[in-house]
Amino acid sequence: MESAQIFDVRGQVCIVTGGAGGIGLACGEAMAENGARVILTDIDSARLASVVERLRGKNLDVQGVNMDVSTRSTVAGVFDQVIANVGRIDVVFANAGVDVGEGFIAKDGSRSVEGALENITDQHWNKYIGINLGGVLHTLQESAKHMKRQCSGKIIITTSIASRINVGAVGTSYFAAKAAAAHLMRQAALELARFNIQVNAIAPGAFATNIANGHVRDPEVRRLLEASNPQHRVADPDEIKGLALLLASGASSFITGSEIVIDGGALLGIAE
Ligand SMILES: NC(=O)c1ccc[n+]([C@@H]2O[C@H](COP(=O)([O-])OP(=O)(O)OC[C@H]3O[C@@H](n4cnc5c(N)ncnc54)[C@H](O)[C@@H]3O)[C@@H](O)[C@H]2O)c1
Repeated sequence: MESAQIFDVRGQVCIVTGGAGGIGLACGEAMAENGARVILTDIDSARLASVVERLRGKNLDVQGVNMDVSTRSTVAGVFDQVIANVGRIDVVFANAGVDVGEGFIAKDGSRSVEGALENITDQHWNKYIGINLGGVLHTLQESAKHMKRQCSGKIIITTSIASRINVGAVGTSYFAAKAAAAHLMRQAALELARFNIQVNAIAPGAFATNIANGHVRDPEVRRLLEASNPQHRVADPDEIKGLALLLASGASSFITGSEIVIDGGALLGIAE
């Protein structure tokens, strides 16, 4: 079989959450560039409008819809509308996520007061767990609702290497959300396998996106991340495209419940 056939996603209806930039946009682009019908959703309407215009200028089949993943009824409304418009949902990238602020180590290397365990407020916890974990749950729920009826579908969750390791400079709720999202993915994969629905996760290391106000692109942060990575670099969002296509296409027909790490070897340890 030729690779074009193995990775074929032509005509697939694909929804991406957090699709206005970074990793979500790259996943959506990979699908659209290979002939899928892509609905990019995001909370940032202005950025969404601008990327949709750019992609449509390349004759790609892309729509933009404003959607906040932290509210189930909003996610339900958008998914129901896609079904009403096009009749099916083949691939969903549950990708939206946000940085949660300072961890227990501050930027200058000192112990943070704000990020200390005892100072995490319920309001802060609920807000960020609501986006980074609740958003994944809502996206899974609405995907399952429609894909079970079709008896087919692929759901790909963006977790993080933060589901496997801990770092003091990153906010505590981020680790809780990403680890829980990874395990939620496995439970959903177990439940949905009999409906011919596959659920997997992509666990990125450092990618140069807009997350945390683009801190990965900050020269000082970038230098530190590059120094500690075995490949001595951070990734460009486009480098997610191959893995996105693998998990969205027939190439992954026997893969479900897997969290695939894409981190230039960061989880392996420090090489030098
Ligand atoms: N960039 C990295 O180094 C990195 C590493 C590991 C994991 N991730 C994960 O990758 C995913 C994508 O992040 P990114 O790095 O591309 O960041 P990004 O900020 O470039 O993109 C995230 C998108 O999600 C949108 N968003 C935020 N809150 C939302 C909400 N409530 N509802 C809908 N959309 C919302 C933002 O507007 C933005 O367009 C996130 O889940 C993030 O945790 C990123």
